[in-house]
Order: sequence, then structure tokens, then C-alpha cells
Amino acid sequence: MKVSGIVGPPGDKSISHRVLMLAALAHGTSELRGLLTGADVKSTARVLRQLGVDVSAIGEGTAVRVTGKRLTPHAARFHCGNSGTTARLILGILAGQKFPATLTGDASLRRRPMRRVTEPLRQMGADISERGDGLPLTIRGGRLRGLSYTTPVASAQVKSAILFAGLTGDVPVTIREPYRSRDHTERLFAHLGLGIHERDGAIIFEPSGHSNIPTFQLSVPGDPSSAAFLVAAAVLAEGGELLIENVGVNPTRTGFLVVLERMGAHVERVNLRDEGGEPVADLVVRPAQLRETEVSAAEIPTLVDEVPVLAVLASRARGTTVFREVGELRVKESNRLELIASNLRAVGARAEAQGNDLHVDGAGKPARGRVETAADHRLAMAFAVLGTLPGSDVKLSEKKSVAISYPMFFRDLRRCFE
Ligand code: S3P
Repeated sequence: MKVSGIVGPPGDKSISHRVLMLAALAHGTSELRGLLTGADVKSTARVLRQLGVDVSAIGEGTAVRVTGKRLTPHAARFHCGNSGTTARLILGILAGQKFPATLTGDASLRRRPMRRVTEPLRQMGADISERGDGLPLTIRGGRLRGLSYTTPVASAQVKSAILFAGLTGDVPVTIREPYRSRDHTERLFAHLGLGIHERDGAIIFEPSGHSNIPTFQLSVPGDPSSAAFLVAAAVLAEGGELLIENVGVNPTRTGFLVVLERMGAHVERVNLRDEGGEPVADLVVRPAQLRETEVSAAEIPTLVDEVPVLAVLASRARGTTVFREVGELRVKESNRLELIASNLRAVGARAEAQGNDLHVDGAGKPARGRVETAADHRLAMAFAVLGTLPGSDVKLSEKKSVAISYPMFFRDLRRCFE
């Protein structure tokens, strides 16, 4: 099949959560454009409304107005849906509030580890009662103390929760991480003049009084993690060229483009610009013959959400591709490490998790079989891309989960081949 035309991914999920939360903390009205309309971002908006913040309806093509106020609880329980970012970042904000709040989520989110966030917040002085390592849990914040913390995992959610606690608790924090995770929170703090800087690889926040969070207007760039599926579909096509407009190209997010380059696919970045402190470009993608590569542990944080689609691409490449140290994938929306491997096998490829590494062999024959997505949006989209290959027959156990991060995914995927 030939790829052609112009598509654009939806707004960046990570940035959408963060701008909603920062706008909620500013006193006054902020205006946000290009916000993701996916279910995860709606979970953040819902929780903020339950905390007394005015958030206008989130819909395609409309600017969202957020009027921040002093946070007050308007619900007994705050439901974070499927969204790990909502739960973990809101915990940081709640650490700076005097009232108790109970957080919960859907079955997938309740299985995900929270101690990585509650541990540092507790060290800052938040009172948190949890059974086991997850939701539901109750947090009562208030008077916090500063923290200097080295995160055991490279997680932007942990880092951001600590930064939000510093901001709302009005205390300094210093964070070191084993590898640099996505830096959207740092960039937004810098963009809003919120006392952040970096020294010797450590991220340092020094408060200047949280009444100072300014209102702002911002346009959210397209999500590189969503664009990755369109890039992959174009790389696997038999001919043509695809233009993907308005894609965030923050280097802490574009590891998949670096890996693709090593695999033999060059994705051109044109029209490079800046949007609210974030680099943005249009991507020109052409089909390519792929070869195997090794993805190092240091690269994983820059492509952590792209491993499913990169593994699918690796299954169409020459040789064996290895992803090192991807154990974190076990605690994403599903056990992605096991499900990537078992689903690739289910469609006739060879793949295996060996300890914390993932090995994928390239196969020549068309993919055929049934894929269990476990309601994980990124598994559904990755395997849908595999299904675009001629002769393939990939049946997904469900498709609805794409609404978490890319509601119009199937429309856009179709458009690439019209
Ligand atoms: C995110 C960080 C990543 C990523 C998730 C979004 C964020 O999680 O997988 O989809 O917005 O901060 P970790 O911080 O757990 O690596």
C-alpha cells in the first residue's frame, strides 16, 4: 500500500495534564489550545473540577478556559480513571493542601505502583495512608519541608509530583534521576518563571511564593507518542510519503526517531519552531527497509511509550532487535512487556522477554492472528499498524481503548492510505 497526504496527531498527553494543573493553580483564567481530548486528560479535568476549579468543556478544536481558585474538596473520592499521570501528579498537588483526599482509579490504575511517589511525598511531610503499593489511598498534605531526592526509576511522573509538591507547599526541592526523563514540567515551570534551574544534572526548584503562579495562554503541541504510530505506518508502507504536522520534538521524547534512524528509516524534521517552550516540527516520512538494532537502557526513558510500536517495527526488520532494561513496561497500563511478546507470537513473529530485556526477531511472512490488547491503548494502536501490511490479518480484542490518548486514531490511520 502507498502512504500519502497530511495528518496531525492530537495534543500531547503529558503536556495537556501539566498545563491543566498549572492553570488550576494560577489565580485567574488561563486559555489552553490544542489540548488532547482523550479520556486521560478528561480524568485530570474531572479531578480538578472536583477540587473546585472551573474547567470549560474539553472538545475538539475548542480552547479550554481554566479558572484557578484556592483548591477545596467537592467530592469524597477523586477518580483518576485509567490515568497514571493524573494520579501521580495530583498527589504532588494534594501534598501541598491541608485537607484529606482519597484517590482511586480503574482496575488497571489500581494495579500500578504508587509508592514511588508516596515515598518522597511522605519524606516532605505529607501524611499518606495506603494499603499495599497502590490506589486507593488517602493523602493529607499541608506543611511540607524541602527535599533532596534521587529517584530510583527515571520517571517523569515521580519527578513532576515532587516539583508540584514543592510548588504548592512553597518549599525547595532538588531531584536527581538515573536517566533524564521527559522534561515538560521543568520547561513549563521555566516558561512561567517559577524558579527552576539545573545544576550538575540535578533539577532544582526554589519557590518564590505560590501566589505568584501567573495565568497563561498556551498552545499544546501534537503528541510525538501518538505521531509514532503514523510514522510507523508510513515506514512500513510500500511507497509514497506522509507529512505529519505539528509534532513535539522535545529531545526527551524523540528517542523513537533516533532508533528508527539506526534501523534505516530517516524521518525529516521541517518547519522547526517553538511552542510554549517546546520544540515543534513537521515530520516527513517515507517507507524504508529496516534492520535490527539494540536499544540501550539510557534510551528507554526517551521512548518508553513507543516500545510497543518499535517492537512491531522490529518484527518487520532484518535480524534480532533487543530492548535493554524495559522492566518498567510491566507496570504500565498493562503488563506491556509480556503482552508485546505474546501478541507478536500470536501473529506469527518471534519475540521473548528475557529478564528485563525484550528480544524481537524480524519475520518475512504477513502477520495473522488475534491480539489481546488488555484495554491498553498503545498495544491496540501498535498492532493496528501491523495490520496495515498487505496480506496481514490482525484482529484486536478491542479498539475502544485508543480513546485514552488518540480518539481519532483509526480515522487518521485510514487517511494515511487514502
Ligand atoms: C508520563 C511519563 C511516563 C509515560 C506516561 C506519561 C508523564 O511514565 O510512560 O505515559 O506524563 O509524565 P513514567 O513517568 O512512569 O515513566
